[in-house]
Amino acid sequence: MIKIAPSLLSADFSRLADDIKTVKTADYLHFDVMDGLFVPNISVGIPVLKSIRSCTDAVLDVHLMIERPVRYIKAFADAGADIIVSHVEADQPQNIIEAIETAKNCGKKAGLALKPKTPAEVVLPYIRQLDMVVVMTVEPGFGGQSFMADQMYKVAAVRKMIDKMNPGCELEVDGGVNPETAKLCINAGANVLVAGSDVFRAADRAARIRELKGER
Ligand code: DX5
Ligand code: ZN
Repeated sequence: MIKIAPSLLSADFSRLADDIKTVKTADYLHFDVMDGLFVPNISVGIPVLKSIRSCTDAVLDVHLMIERPVRYIKAFADAGADIIVSHVEADQPQNIIEAIETAKNCGKKAGLALKPKTPAEVVLPYIRQLDMVVVMTVEPGFGGQSFMADQMYKVAAVRKMIDKMNPGCELEVDGGVNPETAKLCINAGANVLVAGSDVFRAADRAARIRELKGER
């Protein structure tokens, strides 16, 4: 089954609770955290996640685009994250392992995200411990960028690793997903699609979520 995770980065932050209701048919809610260091933008963090947790039962898929994420895993777990994704480039391996273990010890799912220039093999040492791998199809930092189709080889490579070593692990694609590029992602082996601008721009968001899944 294909899952859709609307990215709240493209929602209206002055009326988040209302926007969240408009995407309640989605599988996950994707929450992008940016620190102005790991990426050249600053978004939202722990207090906003806590407020969102109080107004929805949705699965909160938290994408940490921050340096040394291990410092904040417990805080995001306590604030109500369900899946906590760190960037593999954001720290040295020992701390990445600790970030994954901390999320698990808090009873949460743990994921690792890869920037476009990061090769698939980088996730190999961690893959058996992961609940999700995220392949970025834009340079992280901003919504509304163009899809990088050249990342599909990486989605296919990670799919092979997952099938061989940890079949329960989810494979998410993040960036530039629309009904056309969604097909490429699904064909390459992704099972979770993040879509920010495409979903929140749509007049009928529930219909758009169905369309992204390949249902009409
Ligand atoms: C980019 C974020 C994405 C972003 C996707 O750094 O990680 O989740 O919101 O936005 P769209 O779907 O508009 O490319
Ligand atoms: Zn994201």
